[in-house]
Amino acid sequence: MALAIMCSGGDAAGMNPAIKKFVDEVYKRGDLPFLIYDGLEGLIDNKIKRAHHHDVANILHRGGTVIRSSRSKRFFEYEYRKRAYENLQQHGIKGLIVLGGDGSFRAMERFSSEFEVNFVGIPSTIDNDINGTDYCLGFDTALNVVRDALDKIRDTASSFNRAFLVEVMGRDCGHLAIISAMASGAEVCVVPEVEFQSEELGKRLADEVKNGRNYALAIVAEGARKTTEVYNWLQDVVGLETRVTILGHIQRGGNPTVRDRLMAFDFVLLALDHLAEHTDANKVAVYQRGCFKLIEIEEVVSQKYQVPQRYLDAINHLD
Ligand code: F6P
Repeated sequence: MALAIMCSGGDAAGMNPAIKKFVDEVYKRGDLPFLIYDGLEGLIDNKIKRAHHHDVANILHRGGTVIRSSRSKRFFEYEYRKRAYENLQQHGIKGLIVLGGDGSFRAMERFSSEFEVNFVGIPSTIDNDINGTDYCLGFDTALNVVRDALDKIRDTASSFNRAFLVEVMGRDCGHLAIISAMASGAEVCVVPEVEFQSEELGKRLADEVKNGRNYALAIVAEGARKTTEVYNWLQDVVGLETRVTILGHIQRGGNPTVRDRLMAFDFVLLALDHLAEHTDANKVAVYQRGCFKLIEIEEVVSQKYQVPQRYLDAINHLD
């Protein structure tokens, strides 16, 4: 049986270990692995190649994805989805694994409602914001990149009388920001999900500054869109000279952590088991309360991801 794997949307550490496991395991099971390059764009343009062991040699430890990814506008159009389907047919591909985020899964849901496509999604995004799963590939590696940056920023922050504001990624979600703030002992964390208590917190920190606090660390999630507001607040209300660091795409790179490698293996094995037994899969492999399982794609795309309440509650009790 011919099976394919592809990446879609923002790349995430853990994709390469997943691709390697896919190719090795498909051969082990006596099936034929294919790689789809450049995400949905490549699916439209027929960048589909039979995979060999040497294509995935020496990639386990590398960040990003060797088969590349894309955010495809063309896939929104029926004509291109039809072309993509014909390409899969041409190669005789009977099952597809898609490493991506909820936007990619939404696109696949549409695709599979129009054509006979048998696919399993594997949640992959550093934002860790896919409904139905506690974990998405790439999250742990990104957290460690942010933690490393924050530890270093704290070194310089504590050597001066200064506040540091660090903006971390998360298009609409504050999960990466909250865990980073907790793990790095930040005093302030601003995310889209929780109202920024600027008055109360400002008063408290300003008092602490008067009583000898000489630095502070504030983490702001990109999705909160409050970087300038928090910068002005740290300077004017809290009363500390402030520097801003926007970590940006550095957070998407880095060698996958052990956790991301092992999660990738388990997600892929589950997806392959399912594809071997079903011809109308259209599921997403998820991790819930310590267990791996498959859930319906509708469940994933029908609701927005909620950061666990205990993390949101932690925001107002950081320092
Ligand atoms: O993949 C998720 C993410 O890194 C978000 O955190 C961020 O908002 C977005 O992708 C950036 O997208 P791009 O790489 O297309 O600029």
